[in-house]
Amino acid sequence: MAVVVVGSLITDIISYVERLPQPGETIRGKSLFIGCGGKGANQCVAAAKLGAECTMIGKLGPVNDPLSRIHIEALTKNGVQRRLFHSSQDQTGSAIIMVDKDAANAMTSVLGANADLKPDEIDSVAESIQGADVLVAALGIPLKSTIVALKKGRKHGSWYLKIIFNAAPAASNLPSEVYQLSSVFCVNESEAEMLTGEKVDSIESADRSAQILQERGCKVVLITLGSRGAYLKDEANNGILIAAPPVKAVDTTGAGDSFIGALAYYMAYYPKLPLQTMVERSCQVAAFSVQKPGTQISFPTKEELPEELFL
Ligand code: RIB
Ligand code: NA
Repeated sequence: MAVVVVGSLITDIISYVERLPQPGETIRGKSLFIGCGGKGANQCVAAAKLGAECTMIGKLGPVNDPLSRIHIEALTKNGVQRRLFHSSQDQTGSAIIMVDKDAANAMTSVLGANADLKPDEIDSVAESIQGADVLVAALGIPLKSTIVALKKGRKHGSWYLKIIFNAAPAASNLPSEVYQLSSVFCVNESEAEMLTGEKVDSIESADRSAQILQERGCKVVLITLGSRGAYLKDEANNGILIAAPPVKAVDTTGAGDSFIGALAYYMAYYPKLPLQTMVERSCQVAAFSVQKPGTQISFPTKEELPEELFL
């Protein structure tokens, strides 16, 4: 399998509003959208929509829970193989998201069954992880399960630049083994700040933050900077800002996941491309996704993108 993702599956309930409400205030939404999200599932579907062979490892609520079924349908529709577990007592994860007219969002997410994904369960699908070219792992599931997944991946041969770890949702502290097991350590500005204490608001501060993360043991650091693109600090310690194409965003929810899914796709299928080119192309894929509402449903397929992204 080219890409294996270990992470969260969440049902996104998104309402589009003029502006985000104040505490105690009720405002009228313009429209409502219910779709499949969760960082792990988003990353997996993002890669699959570009044409990658993908497997999703994660945990949903009970088999017959309608919220579980829509994830299974969405993964099937996108050709994703599943190694999914079902919790008997916890519901499928869900998120209530509001997106305003400037595409800014506010979100509450309830992890539900994702929080019940056990290290033993990851262990039972080790074979799938070890058969991957690229492993993507994120938070949003118990950290000890993420670590088992990273270790299973690392143990298998000598991978070079093949484990993408996404420290999202934000954490303030991660054990050193997580850094050491990651080839590409990917965070957004606020996640980087939470981990390093360095406010990321300039190229210099992105570089300082990336340096701190690198010193903790990961090889490559990527800090995504929203509409500005991404800051890449490579193995040789060189930093470069990679600009995203200017677009009119309507919904940026899941844009980071679209970026990571694309990066996994390029690492698996275009391993000879320079990392910088992979990141540039992944920024273009993510820029496409923000121009449409929703998460997975907004991610582009290969056919929708310019041919030069696949040369
Ligand atoms: O990264 C975007 C995702 O984060 C959404 O799909 C939502 O489920 C939240 O977990
Ligand atoms: Na979108």
